[in-house]
Amino acid sequence: MREVFQMISQVSRSHATVLIRGESGTGKELVANSIHYNSNRSKAPFVKVNCAAIPNNLIESELFGHEKGAFTGAVKQKPGRFELAHKGTIFLDEIGSIEPDVQVRLLRVLQEREFERVGGHKTLKVDVRIIAATNKNLEQAVDEGTFRGDLYYRLNVFPIYMPPLRERKTDILLLADFFLERYADENGREVKRLSTPAIDMLMAYHWPGNVRELENCIERAVLLCEEGAIHSYHLPPSLQTGRESGTLPDLSLEDAVAALEKEMIIDALKNTRGNITLAAEVLKTTVRKFAYKAKKFGVDYRTYR
Ligand SMILES: Nc1ncnc2c1ncn2[C@@H]1O[C@H](COP(=O)(O)OP(=O)(O)OP(=O)(O)O)[C@@H](O)[C@H]1O
Ligand SMILES: [Mg+2]
Repeated sequence: MREVFQMISQVSRSHATVLIRGESGTGKELVANSIHYNSNRSKAPFVKVNCAAIPNNLIESELFGHEKGAFTGAVKQKPGRFELAHKGTIFLDEIGSIEPDVQVRLLRVLQEREFERVGGHKTLKVDVRIIAATNKNLEQAVDEGTFRGDLYYRLNVFPIYMPPLRERKTDILLLADFFLERYADENGREVKRLSTPAIDMLMAYHWPGNVRELENCIERAVLLCEEGAIHSYHLPPSLQTGRESGTLPDLSLEDAVAALEKEMIIDALKNTRGNITLAAEVLKTTVRKFAYKAKKFGVDYRTYR
């Protein structure tokens, strides 16, 4: 990620076309934002287009605009996103889903920075910085003939690759803490930290949905959490299936309950700085029972003072 940050700061100073690659939820849109707002175009428009969200028959008029009467429903002239982005940046998200006929027109904009509105004859010129993103394998699409090779080379001037979360394990904790604080704040919750077993589960999981999945998972945990710390049982079931992710050993019910009891006891002791009377109170039990269990699980409350 340090490399990514360095690339962002390098490329922000230029006008080069940027292609952001990476799995879903790795933060491609954040990178696009960051490039625009760190560039000398930051005061000019930043126009985002999600190419996958616009129906194919509308995408040309969306990007390039149309003249009045260009097609049924074109009741008045409409500027396209490229015109709106003049002097600024256009972000073409999910560029891999663009159809070949639109690819040809895009290629021309990339090469000449000029185009015509749909149904129009006047050639328009724009000064636009282009950032594109995709989670698709464009090289494969080029091989298969669904993505034009010449467009690919025009886009691939300055590629930035966002590594998946499972390949930057140390970021998991940093991001989890960051989201914890944000969502606790936003929801007026007193949640302050993650318990050690919860951290272990977060670290062991493979995060197919990357940062977005982690963010959702922490937001949900914060909302479910009635205590000061997020515990493993606040995390979603996908993380609980420890057998696949290797987080949880194959436990009997008794052992699982014991593990949970121990976790809660340690947590209560941490929160009360080893004050066994308060800790017992937190867990709504008696000092006698608390001390008995602590001893049974080999937890020495004096170490938490
Ligand atoms: N480094 C980060 N710090 C904080 N939040 C992040 C970070 N990276 C990603 N996120 C958050 O994760 C979520 C997904 O990020 P983003 O939308 O940029 O991903 P994406 O790569 O564009 O995903 P997709 O391919 O599905 O469109 C967003 O809510 C974003 O704010
Ligand atoms: Mg995105």
